[in-house]
Amino acid sequence: MLHDPNRVYVFDTTLRDGEQVPGCQLTTPEKIEIARELEALGVDIIEAGFPISSPGDFQSVVEISKSVKEPIVCALTRANKGDIDAAAESLKYAKRPRIHTGIGSSDMHIKHKFNSTREEILERAVDAVKYAKKYVEDIEFYAEDAGRADVVYLAQMIEAVIAAGATVVNIPDTNGYCLPDQYGSKIRFLKENVRNIDQAIISVHCHNDLGLATANSIAGLQNGARQIEGTINGIGERAGNTSIEEVVMVLKTHQVLGLHTNINAKNFYELSHMVSTQMRMPVQPNKAIVGNNAFAHSSGIHQDGFLKNRENYEIIRPEDVGFPSASIVLTARSGRHALRFHLERLGFHLDKEDLNSAYSRFLTLADNKLDINDEDLLSLVTFKMVKD
Ligand code: KIV
Ligand code: ZN
Repeated sequence: MLHDPNRVYVFDTTLRDGEQVPGCQLTTPEKIEIARELEALGVDIIEAGFPISSPGDFQSVVEISKSVKEPIVCALTRANKGDIDAAAESLKYAKRPRIHTGIGSSDMHIKHKFNSTREEILERAVDAVKYAKKYVEDIEFYAEDAGRADVVYLAQMIEAVIAAGATVVNIPDTNGYCLPDQYGSKIRFLKENVRNIDQAIISVHCHNDLGLATANSIAGLQNGARQIEGTINGIGERAGNTSIEEVVMVLKTHQVLGLHTNINAKNFYELSHMVSTQMRMPVQPNKAIVGNNAFAHSSGIHQDGFLKNRENYEIIRPEDVGFPSASIVLTARSGRHALRFHLERLGFHLDKEDLNSAYSRFLTLADNKLDINDEDLLSLVTFKMVKD
């Protein structure tokens, strides 16, 4: 089968990078439940855990490996034999196992985390890949803090690990530092200067410290990366990881990019709720794609435009991401058009004069009450009937 050059692989790390968040730890059965839903969503790779980190995490990788059929199951390691042995052992039931190993690539990490040199770190990277390759064919290498790494050194490292057997090379913006054009240029530089780059897939793994994770991931894809790493709801260390639902919907909305994934976007809303509930991590109401307000229209100008033609204020249909429906929220900023819409929904068809008087009563109420519900609307029209 010919490889599709426009296919973007989706690597989910909700159960690894996402689960590192304090308070978000999951039990093995909870992780299995999420892994099965990720499989139904259509992700290509599930990063199931960091097996050396704890017996519980090890066991979760074992059980997820037994539970899913289609996606590749991936386990994280540092660049040392003990971590790699544990990962290989935890993946023994996986139908499609992948070991994800790596080491720091920025001078900051080389000097101040490893107290080492570029040469020594390069050697450790290559040794780790060769060692992991004894266990499995599919090896992903991560060059931690690549966002701040010297690009020429990064290119040397990537070329060396591909020569050692890496099949995917992950270029993480670990600290969410890069601007989109910087990150995109870094990926392009690797694409153009690493001699054996066509033997591996470039992966983007962006953090959201400056709110740029999605923009940076897209810039990476536009410059030649074909795997994107992220989490559901964008959960993850500090300000989080790239949110998978955002990247997928950017690619769907901007077909001009010519890139596509295998994701069933209709599953997003339900899975977002499951992850939020199980991880005890609420989704901010204005979160793109899955937040409670993502499809709520509340100002008069927007409501009027939306009711004339929803595409005036809707670039994604809520049903396309499994969202129950768009909503017209009644507040003191709403107009007559929105009030009439809700009254008609309740079966009240008012003429112009009655609507005007109901609207002035509505404004008085809405100035004093944040949440206008159906009962309030009924009281507006019954008040009018009693008065008559
Ligand atoms: O952000 C990062 O650099 C990581 C690596 C371990 C892949 O999560
Ligand atoms: Zn990360």
